[in-house]
Amino acid sequence: KTLKDLGDLKGKRVLVRADFNVPLDGTTITDDGRIKAALPTINTLRQEGAKVILMAHLGRPKGKVVPELSLAPVAIRLGQLLGVDVPLAADTYGPDAQTKVEAMKDGDVILLQNVRFNPEETSKDEAERDEYAKKIAALGEVFVSDGFGVVHRAQGSNYSVAKFLPSAAGLLVEKEVKALSKATENPERPFTVVLGGSKVSDKLGVIENLLSKADRLVIGGGMVFTFLKAEGYEVGSSLLEEDQVDTVKGYIQTAKEKGVELVLPTDIVVADEFKADSPHRVVPADSIPADKMGLDIGPDSQKLFHDKIVDSKTVVWNGPMGVFEFPAFADGTRAVAQGLVDATKAGAFTIVGGGDSASAVRNLGFPEDGFSHISTGGGASLEFLEGKALPGLEVLK
Ligand code: 3PG
Repeated sequence: KTLKDLGDLKGKRVLVRADFNVPLDGTTITDDGRIKAALPTINTLRQEGAKVILMAHLGRPKGKVVPELSLAPVAIRLGQLLGVDVPLAADTYGPDAQTKVEAMKDGDVILLQNVRFNPEETSKDEAERDEYAKKIAALGEVFVSDGFGVVHRAQGSNYSVAKFLPSAAGLLVEKEVKALSKATENPERPFTVVLGGSKVSDKLGVIENLLSKADRLVIGGGMVFTFLKAEGYEVGSSLLEEDQVDTVKGYIQTAKEKGVELVLPTDIVVADEFKADSPHRVVPADSIPADKMGLDIGPDSQKLFHDKIVDSKTVVWNGPMGVFEFPAFADGTRAVAQGLVDATKAGAFTIVGGGDSASAVRNLGFPEDGFSHISTGGGASLEFLEGKALPGLEVLK
């Protein structure tokens, strides 16, 4: 169900679950992509004359009030982006939330305090979550689920609430599901999947699901060293998941059997230690010295990955190619991002799959419109790509 299914929303109190789990440096938001992504739904509801009551989490406070995880910086940033004051309730469903909701006029927007300050939000006991969700639901008349980044969780404010109010997906959730389905269900070929990030163990489900769909699998980031090890090379002091080497050997074999092209880096930028200013140099991927750690893919690999991406009609990318937070080790991630931008220009459908890769493209200065879609989901987009049923979406059906 989508917004259209909710009928006339004029004057109605609309509870909206958003994903405002943004990276913070103290109280400074370092990437507001998730807040911007919520604007279309909020603006549409305001234009319809609804009273918009936003709910969100920040971090993992484990059911306690943690002042550093207050949504105050989000309320301020959201207010700036909307051009209106966005009051923050001191609680999620308590007296302050109720007073603030009662004072709302048509088109107003308020934000409830971090839903995870309540232990029931993430309780394993469904009955406890339901009781809590009823109290939240009492604040609204309809529920809009627009926090794509949390649809893989069955928590109080994004899942249980939908049981007690007429509910629908917001515009962001709709857009995410359309984009990710387009890539995974009926991709125009060649379909290239680029995976990076530190751990191969986080990507097992994605690799398994996409090995039977993709034409090409391009691997970089910390996880690549487990692939290089599985190919029989030494990886020095690079990240390595020894216990996954056999699993990865299996993937390499499956890729061969299914005719999926597996693209690994041919050269690696190695450093003495994990530090921004560590001395570094480029070595062949099959000769990483014992005392060095790989922190990025090398220049030949950057060109190789870029060319493979440009030679695609559908590209899904998840996970940085190196330690992009350190400028000396950001070139691999930059080359992949540039590959997607060039592929998009050439008519390909390209997706940046959330989390670190989405922050990386924004922080490296790539324009949002250089890609067909930048997902706001981290774990959620990964689980979507794994082909799993996501509770936050199922409950809306
Ligand atoms: C995310 O950052 O991926 C989402 O906001 C979900 O957060 P969580 O992993 O703490 O549930």
